[in-house]
Amino acid sequence: MTKTTTLTTTAGAPIADNQNSLSAGERGPLLLQDYQLIEKLAHQNRERIPERVVHAKGSAAYGTLTITSDITKYSKAKVFSEIGKQTEVFLRFSTVAGERGAADAERDVRGFSLKVYTEEGNWDIVGNNTPVFFIRDPLKFPDFIRTQKRHPSTNLRSPTAMWDFWSLSPESLHQVTILFSDRGLPQGYRFMHGFGSHTYSFINEEGERFWVKFHFKSMQGIKNWTNREAEAVIGKDRESAQRDLYEAIEGGDFPRWKFCVQIMPETDAEKTSYNPFDLTKVWPHAEYPLIEVGVLELNRNPKHYFAEVEQSSFSPSNIVPGIGFSPDKMLQGRIFAYADAHRYRVGTHYEALPVNRPRCPVHHYHADGSMLFDIPNRGDAYYEPNSFNGPVQTARAAEPPLKISGDADRYDHRAGNDDYKQPGDLFRLMTPDEQNRLMDNIAEAMQGVPEEIVKRQIVHFYLADKAYGLGVAERMGLKGAVAIQAAE
Ligand code: HEM
Repeated sequence: MTKTTTLTTTAGAPIADNQNSLSAGERGPLLLQDYQLIEKLAHQNRERIPERVVHAKGSAAYGTLTITSDITKYSKAKVFSEIGKQTEVFLRFSTVAGERGAADAERDVRGFSLKVYTEEGNWDIVGNNTPVFFIRDPLKFPDFIRTQKRHPSTNLRSPTAMWDFWSLSPESLHQVTILFSDRGLPQGYRFMHGFGSHTYSFINEEGERFWVKFHFKSMQGIKNWTNREAEAVIGKDRESAQRDLYEAIEGGDFPRWKFCVQIMPETDAEKTSYNPFDLTKVWPHAEYPLIEVGVLELNRNPKHYFAEVEQSSFSPSNIVPGIGFSPDKMLQGRIFAYADAHRYRVGTHYEALPVNRPRCPVHHYHADGSMLFDIPNRGDAYYEPNSFNGPVQTARAAEPPLKISGDADRYDHRAGNDDYKQPGDLFRLMTPDEQNRLMDNIAEAMQGVPEEIVKRQIVHFYLADKAYGLGVAERMGLKGAVAIQAAE
């Protein structure tokens, strides 16, 4: 046995008795001077920080990104600089709608948040296990999330709110089709793909820009639960995904993903039949094939869930030289939202915490604020520009100019946008069994929803593919009525 250490207060003073509080006489009452009791109770009161407003339930691990092929002609990012290069990563998976105590095996989109600690700063890909999303304008995000969370009066999840919003937002159809397909209920985080989802940009040493989408293909294969299987799992284990990930890594069975990109030359964005910056659309692989770049491996569990997983803070605004944003309106909204959330949820200096801290030197002129752990070593250079050798900007991080045109206005993103072709194509790609399970899952989720809303949504399914609309209508006992409505 190792030698025991002496228990102390947070100020380091030894504690004489950690079993009995200080009382006036054997039966009490207690004395206010028992500051050790007060410290203990006060600390407990402060053990929780606000949970993430979405993606509150999650699991994470450390690992590596290893580069296996040369893409330096597309990006000058140092993380890609040579074949065989390994960079440390932290990957957090999550469900979206449930609170911190939610069961893992629920039908929901899964988060896939990757922090790559590159030598030129942290690069975060805050994606999902789906290549598309429910909405295409960030103005609708808080509305959408309301429909996924609890009803303000009943405090219950509301299928009516969900289907009402989706049926009034046809751009959601693609993601809704994925959510209710087999892929909407993965057996665990190891058995699903990850996607950056948005279009980002790559910039090479010559200053050329390419549009890029990021993909992570599970090397464990895809495995999903049916609704009934998931119910049985949840009945026994609410932490099934956390357990699976943790135990696999502890047992040395390290999960891996093939890291791939789709690349679009900058000027192609004018030519595609769809808007390549629309988050509800995929880029067809036949036009923009997957290019393999590397292997992502998870091989180390965090030691402390709160310190590392709960306090981890990811943001799509974390880019590095050679990787940039795109005009995608959703991405633009997210560039603001995440760091703002972290300053509130974790604190001003959240990026100095061990899990978030870049593995490269950090030099900035931001000043004070709560929890400033490091003593800034700036001397007289505490503003910029200065004459005291303070840190300065670098042209290496500059991007080529991006041509923008058009009048400032609020453009109707639903007018003239084809919300049906890609979901219809996805439906037609499924086997008859997969189609049946999709439509069964939808009908199950629509139980109790007012008929007017159900009919409105069935029209969207019908417009994607007649068999899709009719199949759901039949399951809802509404076949004739909907077909007529859709045909009109
Ligand atoms: C978490 C906002 C769209 C994936 C969050 C958080 C906020 C947020 C505030 C909590 C952050 C925290 O407290 O740490 C938004 C807004 C969106 C949006 C405003 C749209 C405008 C998306 C999209 C994706 C996504 C399109 C995926 C493609 C995630 C993930 C997390 C998250 C994975 C969890 C991050 C983690 O693991 O800590 N989002 N989100 N979000 N969001 Fe979004």
